[in-house]
Amino acid sequence: MGEFKPDWLALREAADVLARSSRLTRAIADRFPEDAELLVLDIATGTGANVRYLAEHLPPRQSWVLVDRDPVLLAELPMRMRSWGVPRGLEIAGEGDSLLVTGARLMCRLARSRRDLATDMEGGDGDIFAGRNLVTASALLDLVSERWLRAFARRCRLSCAAVLLALTYDGRIRCSPEEPEDETIRALVNAHQQTDKGFGAALGATACGWAEQCFTGLGYHVQRGPSDWVLGPDARQLQEQLIDGWAEAAIAVGAGQPSSIRSWRTRRLAHVTAGRSRLIVGHEDLAAWLST
Ligand SMILES: C[S@@+](CC[C@H](N)C(=O)[O-])C[C@H]1O[C@@H](n2cnc3c(N)ncnc32)[C@H](O)[C@@H]1O
Repeated sequence: MGEFKPDWLALREAADVLARSSRLTRAIADRFPEDAELLVLDIATGTGANVRYLAEHLPPRQSWVLVDRDPVLLAELPMRMRSWGVPRGLEIAGEGDSLLVTGARLMCRLARSRRDLATDMEGGDGDIFAGRNLVTASALLDLVSERWLRAFARRCRLSCAAVLLALTYDGRIRCSPEEPEDETIRALVNAHQQTDKGFGAALGATACGWAEQCFTGLGYHVQRGPSDWVLGPDARQLQEQLIDGWAEAAIAVGAGQPSSIRSWRTRRLAHVTAGRSRLIVGHEDLAAWLST
């Protein structure tokens, strides 16, 4: 537990907002009437970035269940909701694991729930999927296994829920200026992406394709759209952390030369420091819904 640090999630949130597919967000939002309360489940919520992105795109009355296994991230969520909401003129009131977000056009109830979704998808003390109109996650799908994904899709289908899975890494990394080892490092990173992240062997870059197959097989209409990070020189800190993380992952796979990976890292970081580094990191969003 604890491999996703609050600071990392905060750093990536701005890039995520710019990257997400507004077309697919709209396609999902349009499924629901404006005047009914929407019941949403956000799995692997972290500090709640997915809520912050979606709340103002969905019908105004919402009730969310926010599930994560990491108590540190869940504890951070109210503070993140406040620093997002207050400048927008929203009121954030909280008690225990509940928060209420209200504004001129928003009434959003949030309930946090700590749970390990790898071992306890539905929950001993109440089925988190029951009655949900929308099941969503951001930056999760590439971590899960094929088996887990199939069980998850079946659970969404049983609830007849629409599904929005945002920001799944798709295996593409483009670095500029180029370095000779870029392609080797990308392949090693992608191999690392398929190691076990707690759910069994992870789907990594193949996750979105698997999800499309699963949900289509269960009768869902599925649409996919790109949500790439396009990072310029001003995204310096995010670029530095990505390069560090890629170097670490590439070494951990054990199939590359650590010295050449370290040398690649030094040269890439020098491009960032000099303000000439650009990175594109491929992601995809997937929306799935049942015909009514
Ligand atoms: C990349 S973060 C994404 C967080 C958030 N959705 C966002 O977009 O910022 C992945 C999240 O998955 C959660 N997670 C990983 N394994 C989990 C598990 N077995 N059960 C519940 N949550 C898990 C982590 O704690 C983390 O919050």
